[in-house]
Amino acid sequence: MPDFIFQMPGKIEIGFSKSGDIARIIKEIKLQRVLVVVDSNLKKMGIVDRIFNHLKKEAISFSVFDSINNEPTITEIDQAIHDLKVASNFDGVVGIGGGSTIDVAKLLAVSGSIKGSIRDYIGVNLIKESSIPTIMVPTTSGTGAEVTPNAVVKDPVAGWKKGIVSSFLIPDRVILDPELTISLPPKITAETGLDAFTHAIECFICNKSNLMSDLFALDSIRLINNYLRRAVRNGNDKEARYYMAIASLYGGIAITNSGTGGVHALAYPLGGKYNISHGLSNSILLAEVMEFNAEAVPEKFLRVANAMGIETIKLSQEKAIRSALDAISKLVDDVGIRVENFKISEQVIDDLAESGMLQERLLKNNPCPIKYEDARRIYRKSLIMK
Ligand SMILES: [Fe+2]
Repeated sequence: MPDFIFQMPGKIEIGFSKSGDIARIIKEIKLQRVLVVVDSNLKKMGIVDRIFNHLKKEAISFSVFDSINNEPTITEIDQAIHDLKVASNFDGVVGIGGGSTIDVAKLLAVSGSIKGSIRDYIGVNLIKESSIPTIMVPTTSGTGAEVTPNAVVKDPVAGWKKGIVSSFLIPDRVILDPELTISLPPKITAETGLDAFTHAIECFICNKSNLMSDLFALDSIRLINNYLRRAVRNGNDKEARYYMAIASLYGGIAITNSGTGGVHALAYPLGGKYNISHGLSNSILLAEVMEFNAEAVPEKFLRVANAMGIETIKLSQEKAIRSALDAISKLVDDVGIRVENFKISEQVIDDLAESGMLQERLLKNNPCPIKYEDARRIYRKSLIMK
């Protein structure tokens, strides 16, 4: 009967076109001047213009920060903190975009308590003061960043991404508007959706999982298994987009209260060294890391099988687990992730495994210890031998 803590944002509003309520929420929490952090790519799609027009119509005072790279570096964020002086110029931050944009919005909101560089805050619970109020509006169904205490930044010196984790980064308010995900192309829908799926499975089987994080993780697995294929096949499938947005949010809540493990640990070097997107890096490794983990937590894999709609009652434990592992591989395959598209040679496997071993925070949470030789085997099987 372990003790545990459960955290999530104070209020989450979910529904099609809910992003049209943003001015109402800003007024509700009595913000006078907000910084709106947006992904510059969204401008081209007209999504942010609609939201800006709405803010103007409601006479909300705001400034826009849109100089966000897809993978923001420590240097870029330090520069933004210096230039924007958020704590003295604004009393709230809105983040509209994918995971990177939302992570930058979180860090800017807490920047009043950051002395020097954010590099000094990489790790767990090094940020110790509240942010100014934040409202997050995700535009992808994947990272779950809108509800997590994490901000991922790229370290240009090391060449890979690192995490800043603090309860003070958990956003205050969330607007989950599946309408904003309708225009996502199939490839991004698949990769971000499998990132969410990885969150759900890893959080469910990992050492820090608890009874409440399990609720969100298991239902996220069920929803993604039911709806990701549909969202990839037809981006206009509103029902699929709705449930994928919720599944991604559930994955984020599971991360906040449990945590990811081996897949994310080994995915970071792939993203950092070969510029493979985060979702894709996870998707490539997911099946092999789960094969590796299954023996350590067989009873958990039986429940994963059930969440994926597999009737296990008449199956031996071994067969039921095999069915779960096959269903995971099939989902990755069905949404079009193909390992043969990567030109990664045998020579880089040692290098990847060495970098993967540095992700101690995540490796510690994996249900089965991953050693250097295990990491090499997983990389080789995932990237080359298929
Ligand atoms: Fe992730």
